[in-house]
Amino acid sequence: MKPELGCCYYPEHWPDERWAVDAQMMVEAGLSWVRIGEFAWSRLEPKSGQFQFEWLDRAIETLSNAGLKIVLGTPTATPPRWMLETYPDMLAVDREGRERGFGSRRHYCFSHQGYREACADIVERLAQRYGSHPAIQVWQTDNEFGCHDTVISFSEAALAEFHIWLKQRYRTIERLNEAWGTVFWSMEYSVFEEIGLPNLTVTEAAPCHELDFKRFSSDQVVSFNRLQTEILRRHTSADLIHNYMGRIVDFDHFAVGNDLDVASWDAYPLGFLEDRSDYGEEWRARFARQGDPDFQAFHHDLYRAVGRGRWWVMEQQPGPVNWAPFNPAPLDGMVRLWSLEAIAHGAEVVSYFRWRQLPFAQEQHHAGLLSPDGRAAQGLLEAQQCAQDLQALGAVEQAKAPVAILFDYESAWAWQTQPQGASFDYFRLVFEQYRALRKLGVNIDIVSKGSIGEHRYKLLLAPAVMSLEPDLLERLESASDLLLIGPRSGSRTPNFHTDTSQPQLFETVFQRSVESLRASASYPVGNGSVEHWFEHYDVPEELVVKRTDSGLPLVIGRGQSFYLCGWPDEELAKGLFEELLHKVQVETLELPIGLRVRTTQTHRFWFNYDSEAVVYRGVELPPAGVKIEQIQ
Ligand code: GAL
Repeated sequence: MKPELGCCYYPEHWPDERWAVDAQMMVEAGLSWVRIGEFAWSRLEPKSGQFQFEWLDRAIETLSNAGLKIVLGTPTATPPRWMLETYPDMLAVDREGRERGFGSRRHYCFSHQGYREACADIVERLAQRYGSHPAIQVWQTDNEFGCHDTVISFSEAALAEFHIWLKQRYRTIERLNEAWGTVFWSMEYSVFEEIGLPNLTVTEAAPCHELDFKRFSSDQVVSFNRLQTEILRRHTSADLIHNYMGRIVDFDHFAVGNDLDVASWDAYPLGFLEDRSDYGEEWRARFARQGDPDFQAFHHDLYRAVGRGRWWVMEQQPGPVNWAPFNPAPLDGMVRLWSLEAIAHGAEVVSYFRWRQLPFAQEQHHAGLLSPDGRAAQGLLEAQQCAQDLQALGAVEQAKAPVAILFDYESAWAWQTQPQGASFDYFRLVFEQYRALRKLGVNIDIVSKGSIGEHRYKLLLAPAVMSLEPDLLERLESASDLLLIGPRSGSRTPNFHTDTSQPQLFETVFQRSVESLRASASYPVGNGSVEHWFEHYDVPEELVVKRTDSGLPLVIGRGQSFYLCGWPDEELAKGLFEELLHKVQVETLELPIGLRVRTTQTHRFWFNYDSEAVVYRGVELPPAGVKIEQIQ
């Protein structure tokens, strides 16, 4: 596969005369793709039922005449102001019961049926008009589902749809009462209509009520997306895509992805380090201009799975962003490094956000490839360099990874609902295991419950999977030479009751207790420790593979399957994974703090995320340096 570059462009922000100049410059910079349209609803339909497509016709012609391939976005993330006249109750409602007002974007509630009809209408019109346009080779649905915390809405519309969803799931109110355990605190219901949304309760709502509302809210995103894909498929054979975000777990991306051809995500390494990292000041200072060395790669691997092998970076940070607490400039070379790293992980396209910095509105401080005056910014220079790199690279072919980690959105909702310890966060746990593996220099695949069994791995990790139905456990075991599950895996039934047969690896049920740990209470193990969470099992000696320094069983197992009783810190995780990998003859490395490697069938890529030069195996890489070795 020969990777390509692109950018995000908003013709409605610039005078028509400029479009051809921009298009020409994009092509000269080595870009092949341009994404347009995803926020343009107020210009496409300025008044309800009055459409103006001519400007978009001209923009598409101008861009395609220059030789660019186009991604056309549906504009449903930004309903215009008039929509509120038609549907005053279409606004999403937050947990405190407040409407999320008009004046930015993503203010709609996924459950509002009238708004869905309006979306279907604009998508149908766009699809009819442009569905067979040869330059429009990809359609993007909406924009960043879930961004700005917009999946969950406590609106009247959501309540009505939640009742329907619950009736379909449980059929009878008795079954719901049993699943939710409503006898506890006299919460029993006699009819579905009595059920409210799980916000504004005095203390926490019944956990299965909360979990079901999260499941429902995710399903609403899936069906909202599907409404659009079904229309688009009737009018176009182009690929369908959505641009997901970093560290958003509020909906099941695998389920949305099943209705699309390609996945993509919006990679803002510096914004994410500032805005959504669990790591402290020292780490942030060290990587302030480079981004976390594993955060991008994690999402590349996650979205490769969501796209069933096909994925893009739809928005690549090109310089400082505007939305994080601090917005430093990337170290020179990082825009190129991020782009090449995506390509090393199999991205078909890396597209920069945005073409030109805009001198008005919310994102005035957000860099583009061009500065507001239209001159080349640092981002453009690096994109051009990357275009040359791609010429030299030729085709990049992915190799199958020896290791995989299971990622499961429902498990994220489960532990949000009952974390049991303030620091228990599912994403963080999975991400830390991922980081430990990556520091050992191995390629990693992320897999979903649904895709287990498509490939056999030397080592498969399944941390904190809420429920392990027997069939899933069997599939995990037969898809791996070595399996490591836990902590918390299999600890709940699908109705979120305690599963007393955990850990399901054994015929016998062992006495168990669990505890969450504040930082000062961690259990030392060699150079590392168990932190955040520990499970005590009273197991026979012969099942204990490893103990904490104080003698508590830490890894227990039989045959090729093991259970990890706690949350390992990075040192401990690295040590455990290294031992397991060596058992199955997978070679590991000991990478310096900022160095990462990705091996494909055709090339080996080395990336220096550090702000200082790194010397490894006799090779020196400057800060932000990339070294590419040809394998064949
Ligand atoms: C993304 C979004 C873009 C733009 C960008 C700024 O989340 O899709 O429209 O707002 O962030 O970094």
